[in-house]
Amino acid sequence: MNDIHLLEQLWQFYSQSNPQARQIHQLLEDNGETIINDHIAFRTINDERLNLHALGKVFQSIGYHPIETYTFPQKKLTAMHFEHENSKQPKIFISQLHLEAFSKRLQNILQACFNQIKTDNPLPQRILYSGRHWGDISYKTYCELAEESEYAAWLYCFGLCPNHFTISVNHLKQYTSLEALNDFLMDHDFELNLAGGLIKGSPSQCLEQSSTLAYKVKLNFIEGTYAIPYCYYEFAKRYKKDGTLFQGFISQSADKIFQSTDRQ
Ligand code: NI
Repeated sequence: MNDIHLLEQLWQFYSQSNPQARQIHQLLEDNGETIINDHIAFRTINDERLNLHALGKVFQSIGYHPIETYTFPQKKLTAMHFEHENSKQPKIFISQLHLEAFSKRLQNILQACFNQIKTDNPLPQRILYSGRHWGDISYKTYCELAEESEYAAWLYCFGLCPNHFTISVNHLKQYTSLEALNDFLMDHDFELNLAGGLIKGSPSQCLEQSSTLAYKVKLNFIEGTYAIPYCYYEFAKRYKKDGTLFQGFISQSADKIFQSTDRQ
């Protein structure tokens, strides 16, 4: 399976379960734009069989290289970004939750879930869009996890899958600023994430980002059906640093963007 195929599979999985992304993608294409992705983001836990290094290896097998690490002390996360030798390919951003920083209860719940994932070595590409490997989920447990970590609660519901795709605003022809794109989306009634302001980052930081609020998907819990924030769509505009387009991430901005999947 080649890399193009994996990225296409990831998009299919993500856009099928997130109509908001499909609509925005279509809307921009209808307006004559060709969409290039800046990055695709994944979430996991720091279990060595499935942590960011393990998932990253799947991308390394198709020509990606680890570039930089990031820490989010408040959310007890670390992350790493990977770049492909072909710069037209989206960057990959993988974050992981540090279980030991949480209550025994949270650790036990998430570890038991992730223990259900069959881990072959090397991991197959399809693990990146395999979703939840565990059976029944409880709404009570979801709420309990969310009190400690919204990120943990999200993983409990959705397992391993792309958390968001990010459109590269640098590659758009008409919406050349993030403001213009945000206005366009809000005119079409898409709700954007206001945590930390509509636009996270600044030209002086060489990266500006905004995102939709996560699409809510109806999930069946033991207690009944509830609408839960799932995936969001992100938009990034990059600026030059020392003559070349900055390719990294700004922890402070990413920290706020994580909140796109928070319960409102
Ligand atoms: Ni992102």
